[in-house]
Amino acid sequence: MNNLAEKIRQLKREKNAVILAHYYQTPDIQDIADYVGDSLGLSQEATKVNAEIIVFAGVHFMAETAKILNPDKKVLLPDLEAGCSLASSCPPDAFEKFIQAHPDHVVITYVNCSAEVKALSDIVCTSSNALKIVNSVPKDKPIIFAPDQNLGKYIMKQTGRKMLLWDGECVIHTAFSIEKLLELHKEHPGASIIAHPESEEHILDVAKFIGSTAALLNHVKQDSNDEFIVATEAGILHKMQQAVPQKKLIPAPAKEDNTCACSECGYMKVNTMQKLYDCLQNEAPEIILDPELIKKAAIPIKRMLELS
Ligand code: 13P
Repeated sequence: MNNLAEKIRQLKREKNAVILAHYYQTPDIQDIADYVGDSLGLSQEATKVNAEIIVFAGVHFMAETAKILNPDKKVLLPDLEAGCSLASSCPPDAFEKFIQAHPDHVVITYVNCSAEVKALSDIVCTSSNALKIVNSVPKDKPIIFAPDQNLGKYIMKQTGRKMLLWDGECVIHTAFSIEKLLELHKEHPGASIIAHPESEEHILDVAKFIGSTAALLNHVKQDSNDEFIVATEAGILHKMQQAVPQKKLIPAPAKEDNTCACSECGYMKVNTMQKLYDCLQNEAPEIILDPELIKKAAIPIKRMLELS
């Protein structure tokens, strides 16, 4: 067993800590985590934690969500630079003005946003439950959906309902090349294209299955096909390949020619085993939020959890 992994396990026991990790973390971090999941699963898991310390192996908004759900616990993030292009595309001041300009709208925000933006929202959603959350709003109520315009457009197509969209997007999910994807599909005509709904419309149009990271993982387990082209961050391939070792999983190609032809989120990947160890050892960096902000941001998150 890896020495650092063993040291992390020992510290975790000594300090009564749990590690929650997103599917986009590196394989070594996923392997040492107590729970690996998608954004919804991680929020649900965060409500069940008994440990005193939560180490969140993911990005900043996810650790904030865990803190909002556990205001009395210590929530650590191995690297505070683990950001999110979607969250930074939606500054709270500008978003507040946008909401004020459309006062009668129900504000649904994708969980990939800051605590301040959540505090301005009526309901939070994730890619797992966005459809359900939007459908929970009475038909005659206009909706603001932020910050992911691609998820928003996908939900509009699914529901036939018009929503006012914020124009944010995920740099990773918009990096896929449709031309290269179709070329790759020609080389593997039997493969199913599966995609995360943060991807652009032209990618979703050719996908046979669309879902959150957890839904994509379930799909490759349950579908009878044995070859898939996967359009989401490449970290998910670790758990997928563990679940279906006999199946062929091919990462969707990015527009830019990068060395591995797959898309990796630089923010997710700033967390390393060493930083995970150091943050447990030092009990820092810690997520600190103003108690008033926690109270306000908890309301739309709890609404989402009740509806999920
Ligand atoms: P899910 O975790 O809902 O699949 O979304 C992925 C993501 O946006 C991570 O930032």
